[in-house]
Parts: sequence; C-alpha cells; structure tokens
Amino acid sequence: MKKDKKSSNQMWGGRFDAAPSDVMTQINASIGIDKRLWAQDIAGSKAHCTMLAAQKIIDQADADAIIKGLDLIAAEIESGTFEFKETLEDIHMNIESRLKDLIGDVAGKLHTARSRNDQVATDFKLWVRGACDQLIDEIEALQKIFETLSHKHKNDIMPGFTHLQVAQPVTLGMHMDSYWHMLDRDKTRFQDCRARLNKSPLGACALSGTGFDTNRDMTAKALGFDSAMSNTMDAVSARDFATEFLFCAAQCGLNLSRLAEEIIIWATPQFGFIQLSDDWSTGSSIMPQKKNPDAAELVRAKTGRLTGNLVQLMTVMKALPLAYNKDMQEDKESVFNSFDTLTLCLKAMAGMMESAVFDLPCMRAAAEDGYATATEIADWLVRHLKMPFREAHHVTGRIVKMAEEKNSKLSDLALADMQSACADITEDIYNYLDPAKAVQSRIK
Ligand code: ARG
Repeated sequence: MKKDKKSSNQMWGGRFDAAPSDVMTQINASIGIDKRLWAQDIAGSKAHCTMLAAQKIIDQADADAIIKGLDLIAAEIESGTFEFKETLEDIHMNIESRLKDLIGDVAGKLHTARSRNDQVATDFKLWVRGACDQLIDEIEALQKIFETLSHKHKNDIMPGFTHLQVAQPVTLGMHMDSYWHMLDRDKTRFQDCRARLNKSPLGACALSGTGFDTNRDMTAKALGFDSAMSNTMDAVSARDFATEFLFCAAQCGLNLSRLAEEIIIWATPQFGFIQLSDDWSTGSSIMPQKKNPDAAELVRAKTGRLTGNLVQLMTVMKALPLAYNKDMQEDKESVFNSFDTLTLCLKAMAGMMESAVFDLPCMRAAAEDGYATATEIADWLVRHLKMPFREAHHVTGRIVKMAEEKNSKLSDLALADMQSACADITEDIYNYLDPAKAVQSRIK
C-alpha cells in the first residue's frame, strides 16, 4: 500500500520519496514513552521562542502566536484531548505538528537555531531535575518517621545482630536511626545529582552550535538552569546525569531492601519483633493463619528493577561515539520506571513503618536470651583484672558455654560458676550483665 508521504514524515520528509515501513515507524517511535516530557518540552520551547524574539531572530508577533499556540497545546494535553500520533515519532514532533495545525506555517519558525538533539537533552534534564526534587521530598517524609521512631524507642532494648546472630544489645531507637542516616545519604546523593545536572544543553543545536545570534544564557536562566553547557557536543551527547540518577535510585532502593528484609524477618512468628498493620499486609488464600508482609517483600524485589534500569542505560551508553546517536532515545524508559518504582517503595515503607507495632518485651527478651552481654564480661575482666583481651575472650567463652549447658541466662549464672572459669571474678560483674546498662555504657 502506498503511504501518504506527508502524514508519515512531515517534519523531515523533504528528501524522502517513500514513507517508512510500519515496523520502521514502530521501532522509531518513542511517543509512547516520551509523552511524559510534554510539560518540559513546552517550557523549553517557550523559553527558546522568547529568546529568538528578544534576539530579533524571529518577529515578536510570530513569537506571540507560537507561545499562544503552545499554551493551547498544554491545555489540550492537560484535559486529555490531545491526540498523540506514533507516525510523528516523538513528543517534540507531536507538539510541533499540532502547533502548525493551530497557528499555521509560522509554527515552523520555532525550530530556528534548535535541533531535537538539544531539545530532548533539555527536556530530559528538566524532567530528571523535577524527579530529584520529588524524591528528595519522599525521602524526607520517610526520614521524619525514622526520626520519630528513634526518639520514641531510644531506651527500648533489642538485640543487635551480626551474621544475623545475636551480637550485642542495642536500642530500637539506634536501629531506626541507622535507617535515618542511610536515607540522609540517599537524599544528598539526589541533591548532588540535581546540582551537577543543572546546566542547559539548549542552543547546542544538532552538535556544533548555531550561526544565529542566540543567547543561551537567557534560555538557561528562564528554565532555572545555573548556566548553559559550554561544549555543544558534550551538551547533546551527555547522559551521565541520567545514569547518575539511576544509580541514586538504585542505591536508595538497595537501602530500602535491607529495611524490607528486616521487616520480613521481624514479622515472622519466630522473631515476633513487629506486627504489621492490616493495611500493610495480605492474607493467604489457603492458610487462614497467615499474615504476609507482601509490601516489604515487593520493596525487596523491586531492587532488581532499579539496578536493572541502571545497567540498561549504562549498557546503552557504553562505547557510543559522540555526539547524538539514536540509541540514546532508549534513555527515558528506565529513568521513568526507576522514578515511579522508588516513589512507590518510599511511600510503602513510610506507611509500613508508621503503622507497625513493635513488641518491645519480646525484643528485650531476645537481647537477654542470646548472651548479648558476653562482651561485657570480657570487658569487665580486662578493666577489673587487667586481663589481656584475648584471654578475657577465652574465659568468657567458657562462661557462655556453661550458661548454654545449664540453659541459663548469663545474669542467672551462679557466682561460683563464673569463678570456675576465673577465680577472681566478683559479685560486681552482675552490674554489667543487664542489656540496658550495656547499651548505656556504650553511648558516648
Ligand atoms: N526522540 C529522540 C530522542 O529521544 C529525539 C531526538 C531525535 N534526534 C534525532 N537526531 N533523530 O532521542
């Protein structure tokens, strides 16, 4: 079937006799993904158009018509009446084509001294910048919950683990506070990413700049960038801002997966440290007794997607020669997906943590059961008997073994038993076996 040349490539079809094949249209089109850039594309076009008029590259009346048309398009997209067409490839050409429908041939003046290469880099940077801001807000919201929990539970004893074996007593507050700190680094990573990306590619054109007397500082300022990117080839070919964003998201997701894993473990009947509220758990269709921590399991699993997205774009960018290559059209899906995924995970974690109920007596008992204060005995031997730590470690090991054999807590062992491991131990040692005291002695 003969295709209508005009409808399939009205933007660049001048030198083509035939329209692309259907599969070519399909593989070439990015509109299904990049329509998410519409607001940034319109903002970029308005800034560019205003600059073209200010520099007298186009007439003010034409610029006014273009800007009015762009505003109409924004309203159409917002209200859902805009028709996105695959034959028009991407968001840039969909908008420009609609502009022509609305205001006629003057629409064609908008693309003066611009290329889709600097246009897409600009749109995408604006989008990622907004995504960083939103994620920073979500992270801060979750941090607030951890801040509250760490104050509330600053004296509530629980076992601290290494190798998932009871190690030493800590407080639940301390445990919660460690997540606050992890999230704080995640937050500053997004802040760094945002700060580094905030330079404008607009005006770099296809790769080598333009002969028109443009003012790149003016468009940079209008779009909230700190300045224009000085090397035009770099401006259109750099996507490290996107891979950096993906890394920040993957790292934050990875931190959340550790929390997710702890929630899953703590919510088992065997641990019994935490009860998730009903709205953050699901039941089993066959086993009535089950209350599953699905949201936590899904947050744990979504780390796969977040790291996968990072690897995807790094693989696309690897060994790409300068400057723009169509490969780079494959840069957006992962970024959008990581943003959506991480937003969901942060919200789910906030909901779960806010409504979870901790079984504090159970946590405390676990700190007492697991010989968590064994290190206190060793430290007592060092401090009071001036024993070398290695020897104290051995002596304490014998005491722990004895407690194990007698199925006793360390604090319930008779002094005579302790003395059978080291004759110089006195009653005073019992002052150090309370997990709360052990924790207290370590707070600096
Ligand atoms: N849709 C394209 C992308 O996302 C826009 C840039 C197209 N540039 C070009 N020279 N074909 O990368």
